[in-house]
Amino acid sequence: MDTVLVTGGAGFIGSNFIHFLISSSSYNVINLDALTYAGNIKNLSSVEKDSRYRFIKGDITSPEAIRQLVDLDFDYLVNFAAETHVDRSILAPDRFILTNILGTQNLLNLSLQKQIRKYIQISTDEVYGSLGREGFFSENSPLDPTSPYSASKASADLIVLAYFKTFDLPVNITRCSNNYGPYQFPEKLIPLMINNAVKNKPLPVYGDGSNIRDWIHVDDHCRGILQVMEKGRSGDIYNMGGNSEKQNLELVKTILEILGKPESLIRFVTDRKAHDWRYAVDYSKIRQELRWAPQVKFTDGIRDTIAWYLNNQDWLEEIVSGEYQHYYEKMYSTR
Ligand code: NAD
Ligand code: TYD
Repeated sequence: MDTVLVTGGAGFIGSNFIHFLISSSSYNVINLDALTYAGNIKNLSSVEKDSRYRFIKGDITSPEAIRQLVDLDFDYLVNFAAETHVDRSILAPDRFILTNILGTQNLLNLSLQKQIRKYIQISTDEVYGSLGREGFFSENSPLDPTSPYSASKASADLIVLAYFKTFDLPVNITRCSNNYGPYQFPEKLIPLMINNAVKNKPLPVYGDGSNIRDWIHVDDHCRGILQVMEKGRSGDIYNMGGNSEKQNLELVKTILEILGKPESLIRFVTDRKAHDWRYAVDYSKIRQELRWAPQVKFTDGIRDTIAWYLNNQDWLEEIVSGEYQHYYEKMYSTR
């Protein structure tokens, strides 16, 4: 059976993708991850002993890690490895440039050398910048990133396309909207708000909370990635969205309501710099070409997600009490 090399598989979406591959396909999986603050090997404890799964600790920016991969056999490479938090990219952009751009190029060189069947770059709708009230991002929308994070992702996308055009490397890029679900690091909006609300701590809403994100359940995203990997046209970009736009304030109130917590926990704090106002995705291309559409209804998905965090308090606690605590205090004491 074919082998998929997943990079960044110990993070939020990568670990969900590995669970999905092990449970719903017959691929072998190699997971290379540097285990940064965002990577958690415990996300994969239930597949650890599966004979189809293998973990390698390694950094995609390091030549030694890449050399290790040259000696392995794999047919596909799906790259999730990245620095992913916009606020961190504003505080300290350097690591974003290294991992997201140079790390991607290392994986492209490796893919060329190994002559693999397909390289999949997991990108984001944030490369398109921000929308006003009207319109949706299509694959043809111009790249207009605003944060160091989104600019690093857009740069990587251009290099991926250059390797297709110049060297005929078979590639796809997926650009998905905001994911939610199990194993998301509690610096991102939904797990952060759940964690704070459970502890009766303030919920920091940036600006006036009117910003809009298009939420997609991570299971829908993972299913789409596999379809693109197997059936996507080489050189093509595929957008994915959840068809579920929510204003941040509305979403935070929904979380409080489900948890039975008061809205008085909400604190309006200083806005994020260059805060993109609205993301919304036109996913008609993947719907028409690959018959993909999101299936999880937001009202069900958010209840299940909240239940997951409530049932996995130990997982959450270990993260919140570690390195993240210092970062958290630094971020929010200044607001
Ligand atoms: P995450 O921050 O939860 O996980 C990132 C993973 O990459 C971690 O396991 C980390 O240890 C690993 N990593 C970081 N630097 C590395 C390096 N130099 N070498 C090897 N591994 C490294 O991120 P996520 O939310 O799961 O996002 C995964 C991918 O999906 C990213 O490329 C991101 O841009 C993209 N994406 C995320 C979302 C979202 O809503 N979370 C939406 C669209 C696209
Ligand atoms: P985030 O989860 O960081 O994802 P992204 O910025 O990549 O879309 O943030 C989602 C939205 O929530 C974004 O508009 C910023 C906002 N936000 C807050 O209002 N408070 C917070 O504490 C966080 C982390 C985000």
